[in-house]
Amino acid sequence: MEKLRLGVNIDHVATLRNARGAAWPDPLRAAMLAEAAGADGITAHLREDRRHIRDADMSALMAGISVPLNFECAATEEMAAIALRLRPHAVCLVPEKREERTTEGGLDVAGDENRLAHYITPLREAGCRVSMFIGHDERQIRASARIGAAVVELHTGHYSELLADGRDTEAEAELDALRRGAALAHALGLEVHAGHGLTFDNVGPIAAIPEVRELNIGHFLIGEAVFMGLGSAIEEMRRRMDEARA
Ligand code: PXP
Repeated sequence: MEKLRLGVNIDHVATLRNARGAAWPDPLRAAMLAEAAGADGITAHLREDRRHIRDADMSALMAGISVPLNFECAATEEMAAIALRLRPHAVCLVPEKREERTTEGGLDVAGDENRLAHYITPLREAGCRVSMFIGHDERQIRASARIGAAVVELHTGHYSELLADGRDTEAEAELDALRRGAALAHALGLEVHAGHGLTFDNVGPIAAIPEVRELNIGHFLIGEAVFMGLGSAIEEMRRRMDEARA
């Protein structure tokens, strides 16, 4: 199996900074530390309400890290303009609702196919790898392939919630659906990523899906950094991913 990449999402370092309106903790410093600990990429979500990452953070990350930057955003004109100016390695399109606590569901690519096809064209032409954050639904995977996305990131949030609630049978069914989705996406020529809600305890079965090439993990790692340090948390996640992959 090919090695699985780990993208570290540093949004919640900015959440902590913004809670006090101070200049620290600095997301760029966290990104550099993550890189030193073995992260293969950095992910940051510039939300429309700028609740964590801000425009200046995106520019600082572009200038300050040497691993690829995955710019997560909603498919709005404002975000397209920023992405085209910064030209990050990857742009991951996510659904966004102002009132939500985190990205709750996948993007409805099938229901917005024409607009998204036009939306991603300039991003692709600028050299960004465009990724769709979707559920494992076959319609969404096929629509992502049709519009020319390079990558789909499968939403693992429901899987992680079912496991956390002790609903193991349903979690196993969800895992099977994720496996089937990954196989279909791969067969259609899409690179497969996965993420949301992943922890030390639930990462193994997702990391073991052979078609998955990258995991994006944030909230748990930043939380765990309080107890064991960010570098150690990333190293332990990496170890568990490699173990599942072996
Ligand atoms: N992937 C995507 C597309 C996301 O929106 C998020 C959350 O910002 C993540 C991965 C990481 O999720 P978590 O913070 O739960 O690890």
